Amino acid sequence: MSDQQDDKKLWGGRFAEQTDTLVEAFSESVSFDKRLYAHDIKGSMAHARMLASVGILTEDELESILTGLDNIRLDIERGDFFWSSELEDVHMNIEARLTDRIGEAGKKLHTGRSRNDQVATDIRLYLRDIIDDTIGLLKQCRHALIDLAETNVDTIMPGFTHMQAAQPVTFGHHLLAWHEMLFRDTERMVDCRWRVNVMPLGSAALAGTSYPIDRNMTAELLGFDTITENSLDAVSDRDFAIEFLSASALIMTHLSRMSEELVLWASPQFNFIELPDSYCTGSSIMPQKKNPDVPELIRGKSGRVTGNLVSLLTIMKSQPLAYNRDNQEDKEPLFDSIDTVKICLELFAGMVPLIRANAKNMREAAFRGYSTATDLADYLVRKGVAFRDAHEIVGKSVAYGIENNKDLSECSLDELRQFSSQIDDDVFAVLTLEGSIAARNHIGGTAPEQVRAAIERARTKL
Ligand code: ARG
Repeated sequence: MSDQQDDKKLWGGRFAEQTDTLVEAFSESVSFDKRLYAHDIKGSMAHARMLASVGILTEDELESILTGLDNIRLDIERGDFFWSSELEDVHMNIEARLTDRIGEAGKKLHTGRSRNDQVATDIRLYLRDIIDDTIGLLKQCRHALIDLAETNVDTIMPGFTHMQAAQPVTFGHHLLAWHEMLFRDTERMVDCRWRVNVMPLGSAALAGTSYPIDRNMTAELLGFDTITENSLDAVSDRDFAIEFLSASALIMTHLSRMSEELVLWASPQFNFIELPDSYCTGSSIMPQKKNPDVPELIRGKSGRVTGNLVSLLTIMKSQPLAYNRDNQEDKEPLFDSIDTVKICLELFAGMVPLIRANAKNMREAAFRGYSTATDLADYLVRKGVAFRDAHEIVGKSVAYGIENNKDLSECSLDELRQFSSQIDDDVFAVLTLEGSIAARNHIGGTAPEQVRAAIERARTKL
């Protein structure tokens, strides 16, 4: 096959010696940047159309370039394309093959551009698609969380601070807290897309090009919102990718926090939820075990995504203008984060609808945790007691409850009145878990009525 021969360097003109083989292996990027092939071809096609429209290519040359690139794309998709590391990267592999196949016209494709603006364009086109996919996956996760919240609007559980039972909340309210995190993650992706979707093509190597190019035409063909303003900046900065990695790291941080709670809740000690068998594994030695590997792995994988963000920030931080080869190091961390976030969101969206709440255990834990103590204090304040005094009275009541192994709601009126004569019969409405929850009846509160309204609002944002 002619594809496998003649891997002559496209920049070889001024060189007398061959590249050292170790240098070649060290500097090639095709082994990982070949995943940009479709976007590279798309960018080249638009560039060729623009070149033809300004008279740099003839219509015949354009036709043969477009057909040639389309065939290369099909070959790659069929797995019938030889990627040569001697040809360094995805850009030169495709361009060299094009010239192999269509001859002279292929050599004209690179007129008015450089790999420096080409690679920046490819990454932006690719990331734009990835952002759209990520937003779709985030929406699937949010949808699943809202649905599970809806079935658990009245499911009472302890809310925690310092990992200690604090006040009763509903499981639905807790799940909507997770939804909020993923909603902001969605917004961050949408926002990041604005700065990604700007076209650097035309910046050429660093200073622009002497050909009469029409950048707006190329941008329009490629669906870019706008074009970059400064050629030096456009070939150099990868801040748009850093923003994407930062938004990705936040997604993983959120998924990791949720996973941590799932792991805790699925433990026999909590026994708040049942995770689906299909998302857990057993132990090779302890037959009783059902391990929550999926949330554990999601929690673990958040590490590399944060690391990838730090990688890109560090790669960028000392680079002088304009393009430097350091920037080739942007791709592996970027691709790794893309792949990791994708699979984690897919798994999360698949797992959430299969989570079952053990409502009885959740309620029991809220009940045992003196989680309505604040409600008793608020009750006393309504009766005219100063909050600090009320706090003291309730503290003593809780100590009494602990000593006598009783919840506050299980104490008799006489028992409670030992601590304050302000306590009357109506206190029991306040001391129940349901009473406590229903009382937090404002936007953002845990009252079932509010959680139902919050679900409606969340759905309209999907
Ligand atoms: N593979 C390179 C990268 O990813 C493409 C641009 C190379 N440009 C250059 N002048 N060597 O950054």
